[in-house]
Amino acid sequence: MQTTYETVAVVGAGAMGRGIAQIAAQAGSKVRLYDTQSAAVDKALQDIGGQWDRLQEKGRMTPEAVQAGKARLVAAADLSTLSDCQLVVEAIVERLDVKKELFARLESVVGPDAVLATNTSSLSVTAIAAGLKRPQRVAGYHFFNPVPLMKVVEVVAGLKTDPAVCEALAAYAREMGHTPVQAQDTPGFIVNHAGRGYGTEALRIVSEGVADFATIDRILRDQAGFKLGPFELLDLTGLDVSHPVMESIYRQYYDEPRYRPSAIAAQRAAGGVLGRKTAEGFYRYVEGKQQVPV
Ligand code: NAI
Repeated sequence: MQTTYETVAVVGAGAMGRGIAQIAAQAGSKVRLYDTQSAAVDKALQDIGGQWDRLQEKGRMTPEAVQAGKARLVAAADLSTLSDCQLVVEAIVERLDVKKELFARLESVVGPDAVLATNTSSLSVTAIAAGLKRPQRVAGYHFFNPVPLMKVVEVVAGLKTDPAVCEALAAYAREMGHTPVQAQDTPGFIVNHAGRGYGTEALRIVSEGVADFATIDRILRDQAGFKLGPFELLDLTGLDVSHPVMESIYRQYYDEPRYRPSAIAAQRAAGGVLGRKTAEGFYRYVEGKQQVPV
């Protein structure tokens, strides 16, 4: 299988990184997965292998494709082992200082033509690239959760991004079976900007006592036709991820009142009531299945 990028690294093996690693390996790239927590990489490789096994059982992947995918996807013990990667996709914690530090390290590791992409939900691609020797090779590559099922990716050019980098990322997205959408480097890009109306406003409706969250979810899912209600979506994403995104977009729009984050989300994030990943969010989860409202 010929792909735009033969050797790809994914840094961050959480919910997003593992999904990106999976579809990149399925597309035929050799993929190295790195995380500061090696246990996260082990778990990701196990989960992806399990998913491929299930696809094989259902007849949606051949045994050869599963075997080849497993052979192409490996753990990286250290960032220094990523030196021959043509593309690095970053999917680590949503903090500008941490992402900038990682990109500076990556720049000293990879070759001059390698592309550095960030899966950030809300941070400025331009700011992540600022201070690097080659900011023209940095772009946003914003996937959605769960990556193998959500087949759209926002491709975001920062102020200095070479348009050819975005074109190559868009081509690679198609090879992975995804539809690329070009977005401007603005807070939240397209989906997380529009999503303020869905998440932040739903939290406001609860805090104003208009309705409880389960009712809002039911109405928006069953009557308005959304796949997930806003609170189901917050639980899926995890408040440790989505609350900082809400804060970041609010700050970047100079404290625009429409985007003001909710104290309800802040309290729950601080209390570790994050969603599916802690088995308790707006709903409880038993063996991954959503239960009655908490
Ligand atoms: P997560 O918390 O599931 O995974 C993050 C992983 O990064 C963890 O395994 C952590 O150990 C690792 N990590 C943290 N700092 C690191 C570093 N310096 N070097 C290497 N690994 C490091 O987070 P998730 O949900 O996968 O999000 C990752 C990124 O993707 C964030 O920027 C987030 O905003 C973005 N995103 C998240 C979506 C979601 O629905 N969860 C959707 C789209 C984008």
